[in-house]
Amino acid sequence: MSQSQRIESAMRRAIAVGQGKAGMAPAQLASALDYAVTPGGARIRPTILMSVAQACGDPDPALTDAAAVALELIHCASLVHDDMPCFDDADIRRGKPTIHRAYSEPLAVLTGDSLIVLAFEVLARTADVDAERAIQLVLTLSQRTGSPLGICAGQAWESEADINLSAYHQAKTGALFIAATQMGAIAAGQDPEPWEELGARIGEAFQVADDLRDALYDADALGKPVGQDDLHNRPNAVTQLGVTGAINRLKDILAGAIASIPSCPGEADLAQMVRHTAERLTPVHPTIPAQ
Ligand code: IPE
Ligand code: IPE
Ligand code: MG
Ligand code: MG
Repeated sequence: MSQSQRIESAMRRAIAVGQGKAGMAPAQLASALDYAVTPGGARIRPTILMSVAQACGDPDPALTDAAAVALELIHCASLVHDDMPCFDDADIRRGKPTIHRAYSEPLAVLTGDSLIVLAFEVLARTADVDAERAIQLVLTLSQRTGSPLGICAGQAWESEADINLSAYHQAKTGALFIAATQMGAIAAGQDPEPWEELGARIGEAFQVADDLRDALYDADALGKPVGQDDLHNRPNAVTQLGVTGAINRLKDILAGAIASIPSCPGEADLAQMVRHTAERLTPVHPTIPAQ
């Protein structure tokens, strides 16, 4: 089974848990849970997580699947809430109407909440495989989701008069990439500490790439509103460095990411995955010199 088939089938199983048997959950919530996660976006976080676990031998695939799904559920939940009128007030996500547009605002709040809770339920259910690793996964994901270092804190920086840009980016975007590499290591029974740097570097690269796409792409190409950084007056890599400067920065960060891969049996494959991620992240645009 390919990595992507593994991720999609594990996602389907998790959503089925959240939906319960037919008629158990309110129909609109059951439908919105599926709507929020399918079709998926790039699934970049679970792909990184699974690649790290595989590079470490993937001794317990059930733990790896649960970790990958839990991480992607948190990511999807964060997007549901982020698009709501009280945050970015976005009408489209992944090329289709956002949850509060397709359903309602109360359902968007509840869908995001349910996905977050489901993420931790999925991890708790793996305690019979390895209780200690299940708890480590819960702990790591909580720290990267909440406050002070997780997505909640990241989003909350937008409510401050003075934004600490590096703390904002690290918490809003970087946190789930660190969770990806560390949870991959934990699922495979490895010490997560040496894997933090790789996650942080990929997260930083992702942020620069996202800033470039936000500045250069149109909404049709991206499937979500663009020009948001300018609109909300958010500092970003393109205004700070220019397009070419931001592209060079992206390349530097990714070279550092490859150099930071801890030694493991699948080190070469993992380096290849990072290169592949870099290619996918780098926007294709007439103003960007060809690779
Ligand atoms: C978008 O993340 C949100 C940010 C952190 C900027 P992705 O670009 O990974 O979104 P999907 O999952 O592929 O749609
Ligand atoms: C969303 O960040 C990522 C979260 C942490 C929820 P943005 O608002 O910058 O990303 P997009 O442009 O909506 O995907
Ligand atoms: Mg936002
Ligand atoms: Mg947004």
